[in-house]
Amino acid sequence: MKPDKLVTLYFSPTGTSRRIAEAIAGGIRTAEEPAPRCCDITFGAAPATELDADALLVVSVPVYGGHPAPLALERMAALRGHDTPAVAVVLYGNRAFDHALRELDAFLAQRGFRTVAAGAFIGEHSYSSPATPIAAGRPDDRDLGEARLFGERIHAKLSGAGAASVDVARLRTPHTPLLPLLRFIAFALGYLRRQKRHPVVLLPRTDAARCIHCGRCATGCPTGAITRGREEETDPSRCIRCCACVKGCPVGARSFETPFAAALARSFGRPKPNVTLL
Ligand SMILES: Cc1cc2nc3c(=O)[nH]c(=O)nc-3n(C[C@H](O)[C@H](O)[C@H](O)COP(=O)(O)O)c2cc1C
Ligand code: SF4
Ligand code: SF4
Repeated sequence: MKPDKLVTLYFSPTGTSRRIAEAIAGGIRTAEEPAPRCCDITFGAAPATELDADALLVVSVPVYGGHPAPLALERMAALRGHDTPAVAVVLYGNRAFDHALRELDAFLAQRGFRTVAAGAFIGEHSYSSPATPIAAGRPDDRDLGEARLFGERIHAKLSGAGAASVDVARLRTPHTPLLPLLRFIAFALGYLRRQKRHPVVLLPRTDAARCIHCGRCATGCPTGAITRGREEETDPSRCIRCCACVKGCPVGARSFETPFAAALARSFGRPKPNVTLL
C-alpha cells in the first residue's frame, strides 16, 4: 500500500463516525507520511472517484435501524475500486449493529473493494440527552485509543505479505443481558402496534422562546431540512432524524422527543466494548 493513497471517508451528522475514522487513519499513517485524503459525505455525495489496488479506503458510517445509514450509501454511489483494500467501520449507539457491517461490506464489494479489516465502535446515541443518556460521551479517550491501535495493526497487516480479506459476518454485537433486551423488544412491538393504529410523525422541534436564530442548526443539517431564518420549521420529507441540529444548538432550543430515547437508555445502559476484525 502507498500511504499517500489513504482515503478516509465518513458520513457523520453528530461526529462520532468522523472521530473514529480519523483515529483509525491516524494509526495507519506514520508521522512522515502525508495526511490522508479526506472525503466528508455528511453534506453531499462523494465525487466520482476511482481507487487502485495500491490505495486504502477507510469508510465509517453510523448504524440507523440496524443498517448503514441509507443516505451514506447513496452518497457513496460514485465510488469505484479495483480490488482496492477497504476498512469497513460502523458506529452504533450501544444497542446493536445487526446487519449493518455485512451490508456495508457487500456494498463495498459490489463497487470493487475488498474488506481487509472491519470494526463496530460505540458512539453516543443520536437520541441521547442528559435526561436519557445512551452511551453518553462515547467515543471517549479510551475508544479513540483503541481505534488508533486498530489503525496501527492495519498498517502492520498491509505492510506484510499480502492483505487477506476478512469475513465480517464473524463480528457480532456484544451481548446484551436478556431481561433488558426483552423489555426493549416488548416496548418496540408496542410502539409499532400504536403507530399502526395512530401514526405519529416524530420530528425535532425548536423552542421559539429560546432560539437566538444563529442558524447553526440549518448549516449543520446534512439534508437541508432547515431553512436559514425559518429555524422553527423542519421539512419532514427531508429530515432523517439524525439529531445533528439538536446536539449542535448552542442554547438547547432544539429537541427531539421520541419514546425510544427512554427505552434505549433503560435497556442499553451497560457500556458495550468495541469489536474489530483483522
Ligand atoms: C435514525 C437513527 C437510527 C439509529 N439506529 C441505531 C441502531 O439500530 N442501533 C444502535 O445501536 N444505534 C442506532 N442509532 C445511533 C447511532 O448509530 C449512533 O449514535 C452513531 O454513533 C451516530 O453516528 P454519527 O455521530 O456519526 O452521526 C441510530 C441513530 C439514528 C439517528
Ligand atoms: S441552532 Fe438553536 S438557537 Fe441557533 S437557530 Fe437553530 S434552534 Fe435557533
Ligand atoms: S432537521 Fe432532521 S436531518 Fe436536519 S439535522 Fe435535524 S434531525 Fe438531522
